[in-house]
Amino acid sequence: MAKKEDSRLPQAGDFQLKEGSVLDGTRKYSYFDLFRYSTRCERFLLVVSLLVATAASAFIPYFMIIYGEFTSLLVDRTVGVGTSSPAFALPMFGGGQQLTNASKEENNQAIIDDATAFGIGSLVGSVAMFLLITLAIDLANRIALNQIDRIRKLFLEAMLRQDIAWYDTSSGSNFASKMTEDLDKLKEGIGEKVVIVVFLIMTFVIGIVSAFVYGWKLTLVVLSCVPFIIAATSVVARLQGSLAEKELKSYSDAANVVEEVFSGIRTVFAFSGQEKEKERFGKLLIPAENTGRKKGLYSGMGNALSWLIIYLCMALAIWYGVTLILDERDLPDRVYTPAVLVIVLFAVIMGAQNLGFASPHVEAIAVATAAGQTLFNIIDRPSQVDPMDEKGNRPENTAGHIRFEGIRFRYPARPDVEILKGLTVDVLPGQTVAFVGASGCGKSTLIQLMQRFYDPEAGSVKLDGRDLRTLNVGWLRSQIGVVGQEPVLFATTIGENIRYGRPSATQADIEKAARAANCHDFITRLPKGYDTQVGEKGAQISGGQKQRIAIARALVRQPQVLLLDEATSALDPTSEKRVQSALELASQGPTTLVVAHRLSTITNADKIVFLKDGVVAEQGTHEELMERRGLYCELVNITQRKEATEADEGAVAGRPLQKSQNQSDEETDDDEEDEEEDEEPELQTSGSSRDSGFRASTRRKQ
Ligand SMILES: Nc1ncnc2c1ncn2[C@@H]1O[C@H](COP(=O)(O)OP(=O)(O)OP(=O)(O)O)[C@@H](O)[C@H]1O
Ligand SMILES: [Mg+2]
Repeated sequence: MAKKEDSRLPQAGDFQLKEGSVLDGTRKYSYFDLFRYSTRCERFLLVVSLLVATAASAFIPYFMIIYGEFTSLLVDRTVGVGTSSPAFALPMFGGGQQLTNASKEENNQAIIDDATAFGIGSLVGSVAMFLLITLAIDLANRIALNQIDRIRKLFLEAMLRQDIAWYDTSSGSNFASKMTEDLDKLKEGIGEKVVIVVFLIMTFVIGIVSAFVYGWKLTLVVLSCVPFIIAATSVVARLQGSLAEKELKSYSDAANVVEEVFSGIRTVFAFSGQEKEKERFGKLLIPAENTGRKKGLYSGMGNALSWLIIYLCMALAIWYGVTLILDERDLPDRVYTPAVLVIVLFAVIMGAQNLGFASPHVEAIAVATAAGQTLFNIIDRPSQVDPMDEKGNRPENTAGHIRFEGIRFRYPARPDVEILKGLTVDVLPGQTVAFVGASGCGKSTLIQLMQRFYDPEAGSVKLDGRDLRTLNVGWLRSQIGVVGQEPVLFATTIGENIRYGRPSATQADIEKAARAANCHDFITRLPKGYDTQVGEKGAQISGGQKQRIAIARALVRQPQVLLLDEATSALDPTSEKRVQSALELASQGPTTLVVAHRLSTITNADKIVFLKDGVVAEQGTHEELMERRGLYCELVNITQRKEATEADEGAVAGRPLQKSQNQSDEETDDDEEDEEEDEEPELQTSGSSRDSGFRASTRRKQ
């Protein structure tokens, strides 16, 4: 549809302020709200499609009328009554001739004419109904698809706007599939289901009206049975629907297990979990089978019951109808002929049945409203930190002075634990500051606060004296290069993963960054070089390689602020040393915040900040802190002692201490290093005697 129309559509933001806060995600939407992203033209076309469906529904009583007229005339002409019953529909197709005292031959000819007319009438009716229903459903579905396309885009945009706090608290692991499911349900609810429901309801309405026109007394009697027919049909239809859904759900639960097993197939094999998984899968299939069995039984019984009721109603109606026919047999102006009996009976009963069939479709509309509720609540949710927002300052240049001032912070997902309790740290432009402390003390939290993934509860984070909250979020993040604790790569080529840091980067820039991150060599040794696919989540390359690519990605950005959260933790000493010197070089320009695994890598930092209990316990240079003989000094001593013990043990066992240094970085097993350090559960630090490390940039810069 035309672009112009799209621009008139309500946008996500339009609904936020007018309708109050939707932060808690509990805003209710009515069924008509589901059409909020439709254009006027689409709404008009939907009304047209409903009118077409109504026209199609008129054909159900029409079939009853020609059927009734035909059977009635058949009886008249066979018996050769004086005057045959009047007909309205059959004469349109050349039958239904009214005869008085006709000969046998005339009657026979009339029967043939009637039969032909009945055949043509049925054919015309069914073709017309087929065309009308197809048109109505197709039109409604096209309109719905247009809207769903729009909603899908807005929804994705809304997701990309949301703050991390929202992701922490709301999104489950299968969020994407739930979203697809919700969109599908919504599509049905605003598309074909509306048409089907209108069609079914209108067959009832038009059926009843035409029955009243033909004979109100009989209609009233047949109507008394209608509630039973509607109830029986709708119960059966709903039961079938809900049991089928349950069955499907059980199968999809079982399929989820399969998915989980295959995604963790290495772990399953490693722990010989095949039998266990087979059992788990088998157990999940049991409810599916049970539901399937129940579905067969219930729908058999339900169907039998509903037909029982229908035939009982027919018996009643035929008994009463025949009484009426006999009463009026000798009157000149007869209302009740066999035709009227057939028409009234079937028009009402079929209408009632259709009304019953409508009930699961009405339920689908209710489900669509619920799905719309979920989707629209996300679309309407104003994000606390919106990276696509145009608002906020974009200073022309950044010096890189960072200040954490009296920060108090707790994660929204765990509001009862205060992580930072009034922390203050000042980082001068170009400085390299290292954070150390026990695992879980809040080092990575600080890195996240710097990127404004969260806002502190009290206090502020400042860049060049400006509170981060006053800065444009997109701009702020464009100034920062990050290497995270668990680097994530995307399922594309190595080159593209590095380019993610700066979309405008040339191949030369990418290679330069890769060289700096000490990964150029291993990349070029791969058969496809920079075009090598890394697999989903980077599964096809090693942990250390992944980390180096992540470093290259941060470096290619040429950031003003560099955040390194254990950036070299997965590397062997040789690669670490090289990457470390690259990082050191890279950190000469930007202000750098480092969280380091190994104390040796930060001894030369301009400042070392020791975090404990949510505040700064000590800060200063390595030398200052060592002189103070406080917590940091103790930590260094522990790690030195540990190294010494390990060295002794190694010597006794005749183990080559520097084994990994003799190997090429590709062959080294990174995990060996990690395992050794994991023996120290509280303090994630080790060796202090290596010579690589961040050199005081105050010396370089000021
Ligand atoms: N998204 C989150 N939601 C709730 N709590 C969190 C979240 N992320 C971290 N935490 C908690 O906050 C505390 C600080 O976590 P943080 O990641 O900052 O620790 P850390 O100092 O980086 O530890 P490590 O050295 O092990 O990486 C931990 O107790 C952790 O359990
Ligand atoms: Mg961490």
